[in-house]
Amino acid sequence: MSVSEPAAAPRASGKEGGLPEASIADSARVVAAGLLPNLVRGLFSPRPAAMKRLTAVDTDRRTIEVLSDIRRRHGGQGVRLFGGRLVVVWGPEAIQEVLDQSAEVYASDSGAKGKGMSHFQPDALTVSRGEAWRDRRTFNEAVLATSERVHPLADRFLAVVADEVGRLRVGATLEWEAWESLFDHITLRMIFGDRARDDQELTALLESLMGEANRLVGRSPSDDYYEFYGRLERKLIDPEPGSLLSRFSEAPQSDLTRIVHQIPHWMFATRDTLAANTYRALGVIVADPAIERRVREELDGVDLGDAGAVDGLRLLEGCLHEVMRLWPTVPLLARETTRETTLAGQRLDEGTQVMILNTFNHRDPDQVPDADRLAPERWEGDRQDYRFNHLSNGSQDCPGGPLVLLLGKATLGRVLEGHRLSLDQPRLEPGRDLPHMLNFYEMRFGAAPADRVPS
Ligand code: HEM
Repeated sequence: MSVSEPAAAPRASGKEGGLPEASIADSARVVAAGLLPNLVRGLFSPRPAAMKRLTAVDTDRRTIEVLSDIRRRHGGQGVRLFGGRLVVVWGPEAIQEVLDQSAEVYASDSGAKGKGMSHFQPDALTVSRGEAWRDRRTFNEAVLATSERVHPLADRFLAVVADEVGRLRVGATLEWEAWESLFDHITLRMIFGDRARDDQELTALLESLMGEANRLVGRSPSDDYYEFYGRLERKLIDPEPGSLLSRFSEAPQSDLTRIVHQIPHWMFATRDTLAANTYRALGVIVADPAIERRVREELDGVDLGDAGAVDGLRLLEGCLHEVMRLWPTVPLLARETTRETTLAGQRLDEGTQVMILNTFNHRDPDQVPDADRLAPERWEGDRQDYRFNHLSNGSQDCPGGPLVLLLGKATLGRVLEGHRLSLDQPRLEPGRDLPHMLNFYEMRFGAAPADRVPS
């Protein structure tokens, strides 16, 4: 994650190194405030009713208050909880130690995430380690063109975005259901090709499997699993030119790769995660006239069908990063040590659970200047910053990062180009601190075509 700092970051008081041990009472507070809300929200598929309840009681504010209090009292790079079985890290150096050795010393295939993911994608990259992870990572990076800011198939993807935004159901209002449907179509066409545009049965099968994975107990293999993977296998037989599937034959792979198991992650990350983040970004932009004016100035005269031009939209990119920082759709990164190791100079046993709480780190009031404000300029420049992990950092960072920015900016640009929008619900006050939670299911816009309203 690269950033530049708008102002000098204050340093935490007290000890700067090590992993001090927290009392049992503090350990319980961290679990109650920092970890439990994520289980309630749904680890894999956010539950609308739970999101509503959690937002009403503002659980993320509580997470930040509790973690700030504990960090101020202990200092250090993080704390050891329950005698060291669980570690929460907040210091950028310790976070970097973990993320740079991710999938090797710190594996992400265990705990609730590993077990839940196995229900619908047991051989996915994100729940792999060691040799299997390296093999699958190479395949993912080749298909997703991770090392290139502009994907080789970007021109077609941008044409898909233009077509789908043109069909977006906007009347006097814009609501989440229409946005979700927009991203459903973009996702299916990008991964599988235009023929798959109306394959909502495929989407529904994955949604149902992910909903089952949210349950921590009582999961068992279902017919949907075999039906879902059977359908994916059939799509591989005749890949449509211009789709991600069309890149499979050229991508490095072996018997370990399990290529079909790599697809579901791309589906939910584009359809659900990117949709939620762009919807929030749209809300934050149109809720603040000063930001909206600057974004519209940047978009003025830009050809949104030209991948190089979309790539150059750095203010819009900064807005998207800020929204992902403020409301991280991956609220925590969970790892387990695969062997005995040391972290921040502290010995950890094999099997230690290590957590990076994005919800706290991204808005840590002692470390992040203007933590609750939208500051797109934070993202100018190329400095790596391990405090911000909405797309993660290190070896297991998001290989879809460049696609996220390209598709996200193109979609936002097209929607702003075609419509005048106001955020009717919830109200966000321009220039004021942004709330700790922003429930995208309940965001609603007022809308008018851009050419009917004088600017
Ligand atoms: C705004 C949208 C997205 C966000 C916020 C996001 C965020 C993340 C984060 C935080 C991780 C690390 C998770 C962990 O280690 O526990 C990750 C991993 C991953 N992401 Fe994304 N992602 C997004 C979109 C995408 C897209 C569009 C794709 C592919 C088309 C993608 C593919 C992946 C894969 C395959 C991994 C696993 C990497 C590994 O384990 O080596 N993501 N993403």
